Amino acid sequence: MDHPDCTDHLTDDALHAMIRAMPLKITDALLAEHVVFHNLFDHLERTLPHLKSLAEVRALAGVMEALVQAHGQVEDELILAPLDHCIAQLGQQEPFHEEHEEIGESLRQALKASTLREARRCLQKAVLESRSHFDKEERILFPMAEKLLKTKTLATLAETWKKQRKAITG
Ligand SMILES: [Fe+2]
Ligand SMILES: [Fe+2]
Repeated sequence: MDHPDCTDHLTDDALHAMIRAMPLKITDALLAEHVVFHNLFDHLERTLPHLKSLAEVRALAGVMEALVQAHGQVEDELILAPLDHCIAQLGQQEPFHEEHEEIGESLRQALKASTLREARRCLQKAVLESRSHFDKEERILFPMAEKLLKTKTLATLAETWKKQRKAITG
């Protein structure tokens, strides 16, 4: 059964004009990255209990470390730094920085572990810490950014994000 979209009555030109009038915000960009991470965390939670070798767990920890580190750096620069003065007043700054560190530490321990059991335990810990951290960002940090930063600032930060991503993808 067809469900007509509410934009069906618009011409393509009108639709494109609407889209141009709503520039991408940095919070939208970071939320889109979060969706990829939620899929990665689901995959890790499903597969980790069944892995039989230390090398496999280390390989997954390496992938997660590279992705989480890149994402955390972008957040430090494009969300936490612009909000610095506001979140310092609210006493919220330290948890976000500290949690990036904590997750990184759990992943480094998974990479250093000498037994399958220990590597799996550290990677599972990193996934749990990440789930909680991402949830806090989605519930607290991103809405706070949308409330405290101007729409133009959110869009300018998204442009910087696009340029950084383009430099990576070429
Ligand atoms: Fe983060
Ligand atoms: Fe995040």
